[in-house]
Amino acid sequence: MAAPVTKDQELELDIDRLAYGGNGVARLNGFVVFVRRGLPGDRVRARVTKVQRRHAEALATEVLTPSPLRVEAPCKHYPACGGCRFQDLAYEAQAQSKHDQVADALRRIGGFAEPPLDELLPADDIFHYRNKLEYSFTQLEDGPTLGFHKAGRWDEVLQIDECWLTTDAGNAVRNAVREWARGDKLVAYDQTEHTGYLRHLVVREGRNTGQMLVQLVTNTGEKFDRGGFVDVLREFPEVRSIHWAVNDRPAEVTTNLPSELLWGEEAIEEELCGLRFRVRPNAFLQTNTGMAEKLYGIAREFAALTGSETVYDLYCGIGTIGLVLARDALTVWGLDVSEESIACALENADLNEIHNAAYFAGNVGQSLEDLHTRSGTPDVVVVDPPRAGLAGKALKRLGEIGARRIVYVSCNPTTLAGDVKRLRTEYGYDLRRVKPVDMFPHTPHVESVSLLELA
Ligand SMILES: C[S@@+](CC[C@H](N)C(=O)[O-])C[C@H]1O[C@@H](n2cnc3c(N)ncnc32)[C@H](O)[C@@H]1O
Repeated sequence: MAAPVTKDQELELDIDRLAYGGNGVARLNGFVVFVRRGLPGDRVRARVTKVQRRHAEALATEVLTPSPLRVEAPCKHYPACGGCRFQDLAYEAQAQSKHDQVADALRRIGGFAEPPLDELLPADDIFHYRNKLEYSFTQLEDGPTLGFHKAGRWDEVLQIDECWLTTDAGNAVRNAVREWARGDKLVAYDQTEHTGYLRHLVVREGRNTGQMLVQLVTNTGEKFDRGGFVDVLREFPEVRSIHWAVNDRPAEVTTNLPSELLWGEEAIEEELCGLRFRVRPNAFLQTNTGMAEKLYGIAREFAALTGSETVYDLYCGIGTIGLVLARDALTVWGLDVSEESIACALENADLNEIHNAAYFAGNVGQSLEDLHTRSGTPDVVVVDPPRAGLAGKALKRLGEIGARRIVYVSCNPTTLAGDVKRLRTEYGYDLRRVKPVDMFPHTPHVESVSLLELA
């Protein structure tokens, strides 16, 4: 049957709910249209942007009848800025949508008719919650400036004066760097032409320690006054660590680049669950410190350790989850592909005087067998993979090891659902509990912690 809509057609649609990824869902005689910028309860005029056999995509061009769930967005950059998607949707509705998306993925992809789903844990603070922001430079007529990509645009950056996801200090540091770049008449990198110099600014802030790390990312060559840059940042007593990284490739990345410490400490510290963690520029750290503590608390509850267990912390990053669990375990073995993260994890174990945790650099799919041979069968395995889930050989290797209990921390309910289905059907794991957690208000992201046990 042909799709009942055509590209560029204008439609009037009622939005029922949010799909995973954040688009509104509307139905036209049963045919699904995903509507960007449509909120549940809205009636919108929308222009069709893409047509496929089973669904179409559209962009809301006008809100005809606003949803009762709409609220005033506080940020002056919203909705032009691509950083937040839902500042104008009441937070309770955002949280409900995320809970429903996890349920939907577990039913549809996981094949669980009645998933054992807990209530979603909402965020404590719905603004100012991020401990890391990555800004892009762009060139205006009168000089360079800093901001975020415009919503839906990879090639246009919007100047940001005040971001509601960071702190006053975070905003002040970014604006000071902008004024420095303008004062020194530096030129922003042009993503289309691949010309110019200033590319990105990364600002990290230990929210429980007040320590800040700043990294400037430029095109090749030293075309800035490093002393002047450092002086500007040293005006902020919070800034403890200033780095410069060079990206000579077109890809817009800020990590794993050749870099140099310009001033201060190599790393800053953050405190989580009563432990100190050293954080280097390339290492992964959950970007909402307060909610990361809650997430790890749930992982700890699900792991239910008694002191005698061998625990694997797979995709361990800088060792956060494993070190939080180490107090209640016999031994913890951590594995992560990033050598810099593993260096941090080892340092973090020392820093916290934890002597029953060991860390190795390696890809889970390739190195898990070796770890198993070296350390024996674990009682509990914690996995916290990136969005792709237990990709490659990771799931097979995990299933073969046969730990009694798996605690699965996920940032993507669709890959979680596929993985828990395979762990059930191929390796005999029952899904006991899933607790969704909102770490990122106003964005489509949802985290969850799941408990699986051998049947
Ligand atoms: C979502 S982070 C979790 C980090 C840590 N558990 C935490 O809470 O901070 C995912 C981690 O997986 C690592 N990673 C990605 N792919 C990997 C792979 N194939 N094998 C091992 N680690 C991987 C990344 O380096 C990153 O540290």
